Amino acid sequence: MDDLIFLGIESSCDDTAAAVVTGDRRILSSVVSSQTDLHADFGGVVPEIAARAHAERLDLAVEQALSEAGMALRDLSGVAVTAGPGLIGGVMAGVMCAKGIAAGAGLPLVGVNHLAGHALTPRLTDGVAFPYLMLLVSGGHCQFLHVTAPEDFSRLGGTIDDAPGEAFDKLAKLLALPQPGGPAIEAEAAHGDPDRFDLPRPLLDRPGCDMSFSGLKTAALRLRDRLIAEQGGLRQSDRQDLCAAFQTAVAEVLAEKSRRALAASPVPLLAVAGGVAANGTIRAAIERVAQDHGARFLAPPLRLCTDNAAMIAWAGIERFRLGHRDGMDLTARPRWPL
Ligand code: KG4
Ligand code: ZN
Repeated sequence: MDDLIFLGIESSCDDTAAAVVTGDRRILSSVVSSQTDLHADFGGVVPEIAARAHAERLDLAVEQALSEAGMALRDLSGVAVTAGPGLIGGVMAGVMCAKGIAAGAGLPLVGVNHLAGHALTPRLTDGVAFPYLMLLVSGGHCQFLHVTAPEDFSRLGGTIDDAPGEAFDKLAKLLALPQPGGPAIEAEAAHGDPDRFDLPRPLLDRPGCDMSFSGLKTAALRLRDRLIAEQGGLRQSDRQDLCAAFQTAVAEVLAEKSRRALAASPVPLLAVAGGVAANGTIRAAIERVAQDHGARFLAPPLRLCTDNAAMIAWAGIERFRLGHRDGMDLTARPRWPL
């Protein structure tokens, strides 16, 4: 079975991606075409614009992924595609593209849950065995998962409102910083003093692994408004200090909840994935917790932490090995909990 070669297709948010991955964990190509520029003026992803851009770019991304991998369609063993959760128009564009390729080339089709793609990434990058503990932390999601099989995830806890990436993006908008907000805030925070402002650490007083980030964002907004009222505007140092305080608060919440998740899990391995795991301060805080616990810490390379199609191809291979196949009736599922 290790001679499997899958094409993966991802279009659930604002990245149009295609990749070719082998059953023995080689990423032969991974093309990601970001739509950040298209949505920049709107302060967030506009679903209609995203769907149209995916429809326009998918063929090109697939062509490029195949050519970089040195593959033709006839060399493939199957096509895996994100079938949800995500923005319906984008997911539909990806599913239709994958169906066309599968039907035209006579290849098996495998629909993949985007979150499973993130959650299975440590198996692609590091070949880790089941079970393991996973913190999935992105623009739309934040949860601790106990991963026991390619289709078996149990949730230890998660956010009860916003995902941290969403909070980063909203704060960036409030501070007139570019989108996506995470990298912009991290860059500002690098020059800021994390101790000047006191932001809350929501839900740390409650037991368990649930989290909340919307109150933190509101507290940051109030602080911004107070500074503007007092000073007539925001100085560069205010913005930097506010970003540093916010990033530290998120890092501390995620670190403390990771400590609890590790304590509740019999497995001494914590892996992270999702765009927010690209943040250096957050990564380091979680890594320290894992080390203190005597657990192994695993963070995929940044380009595999954020949305990509290699993780979708890999999750497709894992499902395919379990005998899973989808037909031409595969539909896009905007909501699809793990
Ligand atoms: O996993 P991802 O690419 O897409 C999904 O949400 O599925 O994550 C994107 C999110 C965005 O909200 C972005 O602001 C955040 O990840 N992000 C970061 C950083 N890089 C990306 N957040 C904090 N620090 C970063 N360096
Ligand atoms: Zn994602």
